[in-house]
Amino acid sequence: MKLIDGKEISSIIKKEIAAEVAELIDAGKPAPHFAVILVGDDGASQTYVNSKEKSGKEVGFTTSVYRFPASITEKEVLETIKFINEDDEINGLLVQLPLPEHISEEKVIHAIDPSKDVDGFHPENIGKMVLGEATCIPATPSGIMELFKRADIETQGKNCVIIGRSHIVGSPMSILMSRDSNPGNATVTLCHSKTENLKEIAKQADILIVALGRPEFIDASYVKKGACVIDVGVSRVPDSTRKSGYKIVGDVKFDEVSKVADAITPVPGGVGPMTIAALLQNTLRSYKRQEGITQSCK
Ligand code: GUN
Repeated sequence: MKLIDGKEISSIIKKEIAAEVAELIDAGKPAPHFAVILVGDDGASQTYVNSKEKSGKEVGFTTSVYRFPASITEKEVLETIKFINEDDEINGLLVQLPLPEHISEEKVIHAIDPSKDVDGFHPENIGKMVLGEATCIPATPSGIMELFKRADIETQGKNCVIIGRSHIVGSPMSILMSRDSNPGNATVTLCHSKTENLKEIAKQADILIVALGRPEFIDASYVKKGACVIDVGVSRVPDSTRKSGYKIVGDVKFDEVSKVADAITPVPGGVGPMTIAALLQNTLRSYKRQEGITQSCK
């Protein structure tokens, strides 16, 4: 069984980015700069944003985090986005999701300047991704594609089953895996809450990508022997043996599935760090395009 070490692969990517940033700065260019908007006090979102900020600084980026209480109005969030859109010194912007219910995710995402949309969530960028045009790809699917590439996981001609159809992971993942590219060229099935015979379908997968947000839902009975399993889930579950009182688990029962699979990502240390590495790659791409170093976001 091969453990796909996202932590190690992401640290290699971060070193590559840091070296490129150092060169740019030596050449007299400004550091790439991304901004994050965080609304409310959701614990998981705070942890993610802190990691994004820390990793950005580690590679030499400038980072700005706009933290707002959950009581902020939609209008104020939209005004902040406009302000960042118009700031020539900021190359990338992401608004951490989910947002409080009174703020429309759709309006917020539409308000982001597509050329600064390092999450790749703006409809213009989603459209480009579907057409295979150069653009920023949503960070989690992009990080998973990078894992396939760097961990030498063959995807061409394979049966790929994705569980979960979110705009952030499952849906873009299905587009990328069915593309005529390497990695890609897989035969893709996208499963969701209305899928019948989920277990039978999952069991056909050579590559099983699980992003449904239900802790340890997938046990060994869902997995074909020899499959590659990518676990996107991150949940806190109570654990009285730990000082913190909880542990982090994925959507997959790692102990039993790792005995059946040929390759698997751990949680933590699998997909999570790759999402951040992909966000940094997207920011560097946006920066280069804005600085006229490359013509596209690719
Ligand atoms: N919430 C969970 N994942 C993500 C992500 O990739 N980007 C943003 N903006 N919010 C998220």
